[in-house]
Amino acid sequence: MLQGAADSGEGLAVDVRGLTRSFGAVTALAGIDLEIERGAVFGLLGPNGAGKTTTVRILNGVLDPTRVEVLRVLGRDLPEGDALVRPLVGVQTDTNLYDRLSARENLALFARFYGLDRVAAAARADGLLDMFGLLDRARERVERFSKGMKQKMLIARALVGSPQLVYLDEPTAGLDPEASHELMSYIRTVSRAEHTTFFITSHRLDEMETVCTKVAVLADGVIRAQGSPAAVARAAVPRVRARVTPLPGTAVPIDDLLALPGALRAEFGPDFTLVDLCRVDDVPAFIRAAAALPVQLLGVAEEPPTLKEAYLALVGAAGRASGDVTS
Ligand SMILES: Nc1ncnc2c1ncn2[C@@H]1O[C@H](COP(=O)(O)OP(=O)(O)O)[C@@H](O)[C@H]1O
Ligand SMILES: [Mg+2]
Repeated sequence: MLQGAADSGEGLAVDVRGLTRSFGAVTALAGIDLEIERGAVFGLLGPNGAGKTTTVRILNGVLDPTRVEVLRVLGRDLPEGDALVRPLVGVQTDTNLYDRLSARENLALFARFYGLDRVAAAARADGLLDMFGLLDRARERVERFSKGMKQKMLIARALVGSPQLVYLDEPTAGLDPEASHELMSYIRTVSRAEHTTFFITSHRLDEMETVCTKVAVLADGVIRAQGSPAAVARAAVPRVRARVTPLPGTAVPIDDLLALPGALRAEFGPDFTLVDLCRVDDVPAFIRAAAALPVQLLGVAEEPPTLKEAYLALVGAAGRASGDVTS
Protein backbone atom coordinates (compact mmCIF):
# COMPACT_ATOMS: atom_id res chain seq x y z
CA MET A 1 0.00 0.00 0.00
CA LEU A 2 2.79 2.42 0.83
CA GLN A 3 4.43 3.97 -2.21
CA GLY A 4 7.38 6.27 -2.68
CA ALA A 5 5.21 8.93 -4.30
CA ALA A 6 3.07 9.17 -1.18
CA ASP A 7 6.02 9.82 1.11
CA SER A 8 5.51 13.56 1.30
CA GLY A 9 1.78 13.08 1.90
CA GLU A 10 1.18 16.47 0.18
CA GLY A 11 -1.87 15.46 -1.79
CA LEU A 12 -3.40 13.50 1.04
CA ALA A 13 -6.14 14.65 3.39
CA VAL A 14 -5.12 12.03 5.94
CA ASP A 15 -1.78 10.23 6.08
CA VAL A 16 -1.31 7.85 8.98
CA ARG A 17 1.32 5.21 9.50
CA GLY A 18 1.87 2.89 12.40
CA LEU A 19 -0.87 4.34 14.61
CA THR A 20 -1.17 2.53 17.90
CA ARG A 21 -3.42 3.35 20.84
CA SER A 22 -3.83 1.40 24.03
CA PHE A 23 -6.19 1.92 26.96
CA GLY A 24 -4.53 0.08 29.82
CA ALA A 25 -4.35 -3.54 28.75
CA VAL A 26 -6.71 -2.99 25.77
CA THR A 27 -5.03 -2.35 22.41
CA ALA A 28 -7.68 -0.34 20.54
CA LEU A 29 -5.44 0.30 17.51
CA ALA A 30 -2.53 -2.01 16.75
CA GLY A 31 -0.48 -0.01 14.25
CA ILE A 32 -2.82 1.11 11.45
CA ASP A 33 -1.95 2.83 8.16
CA LEU A 34 -4.42 5.09 6.32
CA GLU A 35 -3.98 7.07 3.11
CA ILE A 36 -6.94 9.23 2.16
CA GLU A 37 -6.75 11.40 -0.93
CA ARG A 38 -8.26 14.89 -0.87
CA GLY A 39 -11.84 14.86 -2.13
CA ALA A 40 -12.34 11.20 -1.19
CA VAL A 41 -15.38 9.89 0.60
CA PHE A 42 -13.65 7.51 2.95
CA GLY A 43 -15.46 4.87 4.99
CA LEU A 44 -13.87 3.32 8.06
CA LEU A 45 -15.87 0.13 8.51
CA GLY A 46 -15.81 -2.21 11.43
CA PRO A 47 -17.85 -3.84 14.18
CA ASN A 48 -18.46 -2.28 17.59
CA GLY A 49 -15.22 -1.95 19.50
CA ALA A 50 -13.09 -2.16 16.34
CA GLY A 51 -11.39 1.17 17.07
CA LYS A 52 -13.28 3.51 14.71
CA THR A 53 -14.11 6.26 17.21
CA THR A 54 -10.63 6.06 18.70
CA THR A 55 -9.21 6.68 15.21
CA VAL A 56 -11.50 9.67 14.64
CA ARG A 57 -10.64 11.16 18.02
CA ILE A 58 -6.92 10.88 17.38
CA LEU A 59 -7.24 12.43 13.90
CA ASN A 60 -9.27 15.22 15.48
CA GLY A 61 -6.55 15.94 17.97
CA VAL A 62 -8.74 15.22 21.02
CA LEU A 63 -6.91 12.01 21.92
CA ASP A 64 -3.18 11.32 21.79
CA PRO A 65 -1.78 8.22 20.13
CA THR A 66 0.24 5.80 22.24
CA ARG A 67 2.70 5.50 19.33
CA VAL A 68 2.71 6.69 15.72
CA GLU A 69 5.20 7.04 12.86
CA VAL A 70 3.22 9.51 10.70
CA LEU A 71 0.10 11.45 11.73
CA ARG A 72 -0.59 14.09 9.11
CA VAL A 73 -3.92 15.79 8.44
CA LEU A 74 -4.36 18.23 5.52
CA GLY A 75 -0.61 18.28 5.09
CA ARG A 76 0.19 19.20 8.72
CA ASP A 77 1.77 16.97 11.32
CA LEU A 78 -0.20 16.52 14.51
CA PRO A 79 -0.10 17.58 17.26
CA GLU A 80 2.18 20.50 16.15
CA GLY A 81 -0.12 21.58 13.32
CA ASP A 82 -3.36 21.24 15.25
CA ALA A 83 -4.12 24.96 15.51
CA LEU A 84 -3.75 25.34 11.72
CA VAL A 85 -5.78 22.25 10.90
CA ARG A 86 -8.67 22.82 13.29
CA PRO A 87 -10.40 25.66 11.35
CA LEU A 88 -10.29 23.53 8.18
CA VAL A 89 -12.05 20.55 9.72
CA GLY A 90 -15.70 19.83 10.58
CA VAL A 91 -16.79 17.24 13.11
CA GLN A 92 -20.17 15.70 13.73
CA THR A 93 -20.66 14.89 17.39
CA ASP A 94 -23.79 14.36 19.45
CA THR A 95 -23.53 17.39 21.67
CA ASN A 96 -23.24 20.48 19.56
CA LEU A 97 -26.76 21.78 18.94
CA TYR A 98 -28.66 24.24 21.11
CA ASP A 99 -32.05 22.63 21.64
CA ARG A 100 -33.76 25.89 22.55
CA LEU A 101 -32.61 27.68 19.41
CA SER A 102 -34.20 27.35 16.01
CA ALA A 103 -32.52 25.47 13.19
CA ARG A 104 -31.52 28.73 11.54
CA GLU A 105 -30.27 30.30 14.80
CA ASN A 106 -28.14 27.24 15.52
CA LEU A 107 -26.39 27.23 12.17
CA ALA A 108 -26.04 31.01 12.03
CA LEU A 109 -24.49 31.01 15.51
CA PHE A 110 -21.89 28.44 14.49
CA ALA A 111 -21.24 30.36 11.28
CA ARG A 112 -20.49 33.45 13.39
CA PHE A 113 -17.93 31.36 15.34
CA TYR A 114 -16.21 30.81 12.00
CA GLY A 115 -15.96 34.57 11.57
CA LEU A 116 -18.84 35.22 9.18
CA ASP A 117 -20.70 38.49 9.73
CA ARG A 118 -24.41 38.48 10.57
CA VAL A 119 -25.61 38.66 6.98
CA ALA A 120 -23.16 36.07 5.65
CA ALA A 121 -23.91 33.75 8.59
CA ALA A 122 -27.65 33.90 7.92
CA ALA A 123 -27.04 33.18 4.25
CA ARG A 124 -24.77 30.23 5.07
CA ALA A 125 -27.38 28.86 7.51
CA ASP A 126 -30.15 29.11 4.94
CA GLY A 127 -28.00 27.60 2.21
CA LEU A 128 -27.35 24.53 4.36
CA LEU A 129 -30.98 24.28 5.50
CA ASP A 130 -32.03 24.41 1.89
CA MET A 131 -29.59 21.68 0.89
CA PHE A 132 -30.79 19.41 3.71
CA GLY A 133 -34.45 20.05 2.92
CA LEU A 134 -35.05 21.88 6.21
CA LEU A 135 -35.61 25.44 5.01
CA ASP A 136 -39.34 25.28 5.72
CA ARG A 137 -38.54 24.29 9.33
CA ALA A 138 -35.86 26.99 9.75
CA ARG A 139 -37.69 28.84 12.54
CA GLU A 140 -38.51 25.76 14.62
CA ARG A 141 -36.56 24.84 17.74
CA VAL A 142 -34.38 21.85 17.07
CA GLU A 143 -35.63 20.12 20.27
CA ARG A 144 -38.82 19.37 18.33
CA PHE A 145 -36.98 17.78 15.42
CA SER A 146 -37.07 14.06 14.64
CA LYS A 147 -33.94 11.96 14.99
CA GLY A 148 -33.33 12.15 11.23
CA MET A 149 -33.74 15.94 11.17
CA LYS A 150 -31.41 16.36 14.15
CA GLN A 151 -28.86 14.20 12.41
CA LYS A 152 -29.08 16.37 9.31
CA MET A 153 -28.60 19.42 11.53
CA LEU A 154 -25.48 17.92 13.10
CA ILE A 155 -24.02 17.31 9.69
CA ALA A 156 -25.04 20.77 8.47
CA ARG A 157 -23.35 22.14 11.58
CA ALA A 158 -20.16 20.24 10.72
CA LEU A 159 -20.26 21.84 7.25
CA VAL A 160 -20.92 25.39 8.40
CA GLY A 161 -17.31 26.56 8.22
CA SER A 162 -16.90 25.17 4.66
CA PRO A 163 -14.36 22.63 5.95
CA GLN A 164 -11.91 20.78 3.72
CA LEU A 165 -12.32 17.62 5.78
CA VAL A 166 -15.40 16.38 7.65
CA TYR A 167 -15.54 13.56 10.19
CA LEU A 168 -18.87 11.79 10.60
CA ASP A 169 -18.87 9.07 13.27
CA GLU A 170 -21.77 6.68 12.57
CA PRO A 171 -23.91 9.39 10.95
CA THR A 172 -26.77 7.05 10.06
CA ALA A 173 -27.00 5.16 13.36
CA GLY A 174 -30.65 5.00 14.38
CA LEU A 175 -31.95 6.46 11.12
CA ASP A 176 -34.54 4.78 8.94
CA PRO A 177 -33.45 3.70 5.45
CA GLU A 178 -35.02 6.72 3.77
CA ALA A 179 -33.29 9.26 6.02
CA SER A 180 -29.98 7.38 5.66
CA HIS A 181 -30.33 7.34 1.90
CA GLU A 182 -30.97 11.08 1.89
CA LEU A 183 -27.93 11.73 4.05
CA MET A 184 -25.74 9.71 1.72
CA SER A 185 -26.96 11.71 -1.24
CA TYR A 186 -26.13 15.01 0.56
CA ILE A 187 -22.65 13.71 1.30
CA ARG A 188 -22.19 12.84 -2.36
CA THR A 189 -23.46 16.28 -3.41
CA VAL A 190 -21.17 18.20 -1.04
CA SER A 191 -18.17 16.08 -1.92
CA ARG A 192 -18.68 16.68 -5.64
CA ALA A 193 -19.62 20.37 -5.41
CA GLU A 194 -16.96 21.46 -2.92
CA HIS A 195 -14.30 18.74 -3.17
CA THR A 196 -14.76 18.18 0.56
CA THR A 197 -13.10 15.09 1.99
CA PHE A 198 -15.38 12.94 4.14
CA PHE A 199 -14.20 10.51 6.79
CA ILE A 200 -17.20 8.39 7.74
CA THR A 201 -17.36 5.53 10.21
CA SER A 202 -20.16 3.05 9.82
CA HIS A 203 -21.18 -0.55 9.61
CA ARG A 204 -24.03 0.15 7.19
CA LEU A 205 -22.32 -1.61 4.33
CA ASP A 206 -24.92 -1.06 1.60
CA GLU A 207 -24.75 2.69 2.14
CA MET A 208 -20.99 2.78 2.36
CA GLU A 209 -20.70 0.81 -0.85
CA THR A 210 -22.71 3.41 -2.75
CA VAL A 211 -21.14 6.55 -1.31
CA CYS A 212 -17.50 5.75 -0.53
CA THR A 213 -14.67 6.11 -3.02
CA LYS A 214 -12.42 4.26 -0.57
CA VAL A 215 -12.99 2.06 2.45
CA ALA A 216 -10.90 0.37 5.11
CA VAL A 217 -12.13 -2.59 7.11
CA LEU A 218 -10.99 -2.36 10.72
CA ALA A 219 -11.37 -5.24 13.16
CA ASP A 220 -9.71 -5.72 16.53
CA GLY A 221 -7.56 -2.64 15.92
CA VAL A 222 -6.11 -3.99 12.67
CA ILE A 223 -6.90 -2.88 9.11
CA ARG A 224 -7.79 -6.03 7.24
CA ALA A 225 -8.32 -4.44 3.81
CA GLN A 226 -8.20 -0.98 2.24
CA GLY A 227 -9.11 0.27 -1.23
CA SER A 228 -12.14 1.04 -3.40
CA PRO A 229 -15.25 -0.92 -2.30
CA ALA A 230 -15.05 -2.98 -5.49
CA ALA A 231 -11.34 -3.75 -5.06
CA VAL A 232 -11.79 -4.72 -1.41
CA ALA A 233 -14.71 -6.95 -2.35
CA ARG A 234 -12.77 -8.68 -5.13
CA ALA A 235 -9.72 -9.23 -2.97
CA ALA A 236 -11.66 -10.64 -0.04
CA VAL A 237 -14.25 -12.72 -1.89
CA PRO A 238 -12.59 -15.14 -4.28
CA ARG A 239 -15.69 -16.51 -6.00
CA VAL A 240 -16.66 -15.73 -9.61
CA ARG A 241 -20.39 -15.70 -10.33
CA ALA A 242 -22.76 -14.91 -13.17
CA ARG A 243 -26.42 -13.97 -12.93
CA VAL A 244 -28.76 -15.32 -15.60
CA THR A 245 -32.17 -13.67 -15.71
CA PRO A 246 -34.86 -15.23 -17.90
CA LEU A 247 -37.91 -13.42 -19.21
CA PRO A 248 -40.62 -13.63 -16.50
CA GLY A 249 -42.73 -16.75 -16.99
CA THR A 250 -39.90 -18.63 -18.71
CA ALA A 251 -37.11 -20.74 -17.25
CA VAL A 252 -33.57 -21.73 -18.17
CA PRO A 253 -32.95 -25.48 -17.74
CA ILE A 254 -30.25 -25.89 -15.13
CA ASP A 255 -28.49 -28.63 -17.08
CA ASP A 256 -28.11 -26.22 -19.99
CA LEU A 257 -26.42 -23.70 -17.70
CA LEU A 258 -24.13 -26.28 -16.11
CA ALA A 259 -22.99 -27.37 -19.57
CA LEU A 260 -21.70 -23.86 -20.35
CA PRO A 261 -17.96 -22.98 -20.26
CA GLY A 262 -16.58 -22.67 -16.73
CA ALA A 263 -19.86 -23.45 -14.93
CA LEU A 264 -19.34 -25.17 -11.55
CA ARG A 265 -22.71 -25.04 -9.80
CA ALA A 266 -25.99 -23.17 -10.03
CA GLU A 267 -28.33 -21.74 -7.44
CA PHE A 268 -31.89 -20.62 -8.15
CA GLY A 269 -32.97 -17.18 -6.98
CA PRO A 270 -36.59 -15.95 -7.08
CA ASP A 271 -36.45 -14.90 -10.72
CA PHE A 272 -32.87 -15.50 -11.76
CA THR A 273 -30.17 -18.15 -11.49
CA LEU A 274 -26.69 -17.63 -10.06
CA VAL A 275 -23.96 -19.71 -11.64
CA ASP A 276 -20.55 -20.07 -10.02
CA LEU A 277 -17.70 -20.14 -12.51
CA CYS A 278 -14.15 -21.45 -12.14
CA ARG A 279 -12.23 -18.33 -13.06
CA VAL A 280 -12.87 -14.74 -14.09
CA ASP A 281 -11.41 -15.64 -17.51
CA ASP A 282 -14.42 -17.93 -18.02
CA VAL A 283 -16.90 -15.06 -17.84
CA PRO A 284 -16.78 -13.79 -21.45
CA ALA A 285 -17.19 -17.27 -22.97
CA PHE A 286 -19.94 -18.08 -20.47
CA ILE A 287 -21.86 -14.93 -21.37
CA ARG A 288 -21.57 -15.60 -25.11
CA ALA A 289 -22.68 -19.21 -24.72
CA ALA A 290 -25.58 -18.35 -22.39
CA ALA A 291 -26.80 -15.67 -24.78
CA ALA A 292 -26.79 -18.26 -27.58
CA LEU A 293 -29.04 -20.70 -25.65
CA PRO A 294 -32.51 -21.19 -27.16
CA VAL A 295 -34.14 -19.40 -24.20
CA GLN A 296 -35.59 -15.94 -23.63
CA LEU A 297 -33.13 -13.98 -21.48
CA LEU A 298 -33.38 -10.51 -19.97
CA GLY A 299 -29.71 -10.61 -19.04
CA VAL A 300 -26.49 -12.47 -18.41
CA ALA A 301 -23.81 -10.66 -16.46
CA GLU A 302 -21.06 -11.17 -13.98
CA GLU A 303 -22.29 -10.67 -10.42
CA PRO A 304 -19.49 -8.82 -8.60
CA PRO A 305 -18.91 -9.62 -4.93
CA THR A 306 -20.43 -7.03 -2.59
CA LEU A 307 -18.76 -5.03 0.13
CA LYS A 308 -21.03 -6.79 2.61
CA GLU A 309 -19.74 -10.22 1.57
CA ALA A 310 -16.19 -8.92 1.86
CA TYR A 311 -16.84 -7.43 5.27
CA LEU A 312 -18.32 -10.67 6.57
CA ALA A 313 -15.38 -12.63 5.20
CA LEU A 314 -12.86 -10.20 6.70
CA VAL A 315 -14.50 -9.54 10.05
CA GLY A 316 -16.35 -12.78 10.72
CA ALA A 317 -14.97 -16.09 11.92
CA ALA A 318 -13.32 -16.82 8.58
CA GLY A 319 -11.54 -13.46 8.58
CA ARG A 320 -10.24 -13.98 12.10
CA ALA A 321 -9.05 -17.48 11.34
CA SER A 322 -7.14 -16.50 8.22
CA GLY A 323 -5.71 -13.27 9.67
CA ASP A 324 -4.95 -10.27 7.48
CA VAL A 325 -6.08 -10.69 3.92
CA THR A 326 -4.49 -7.58 2.49
CA SER A 327 -3.52 -4.07 3.43
N1 LIG B 1 -11.61 6.05 26.92
C1 LIG B 1 -11.48 4.71 26.87
N2 LIG B 1 -11.05 4.01 27.94
C2 LIG B 1 -10.89 2.67 27.88
N3 LIG B 1 -11.13 1.93 26.78
C3 LIG B 1 -11.55 2.57 25.68
C4 LIG B 1 -11.74 3.99 25.66
N4 LIG B 1 -12.15 4.35 24.41
C5 LIG B 1 -12.21 3.20 23.71
N5 LIG B 1 -11.86 2.13 24.45
C6 LIG B 1 -11.77 0.73 23.99
O1 LIG B 1 -11.09 0.69 22.75
C7 LIG B 1 -11.71 -0.22 21.86
C8 LIG B 1 -12.16 0.51 20.61
O2 LIG B 1 -13.22 1.39 20.95
P1 LIG B 1 -13.88 2.39 19.88
O3 LIG B 1 -12.81 3.13 19.18
O4 LIG B 1 -14.90 3.18 20.60
O5 LIG B 1 -14.57 1.37 18.87
P2 LIG B 1 -15.71 1.63 17.77
O6 LIG B 1 -15.91 3.09 17.64
O7 LIG B 1 -15.18 0.97 16.53
O8 LIG B 1 -16.94 0.93 18.26
C9 LIG B 1 -12.83 -0.87 22.64
O9 LIG B 1 -12.35 -2.07 23.19
C10 LIG B 1 -13.14 0.16 23.71
O10 LIG B 1 -13.71 -0.46 24.84
MG1 LIG C 1 -17.63 4.25 17.76
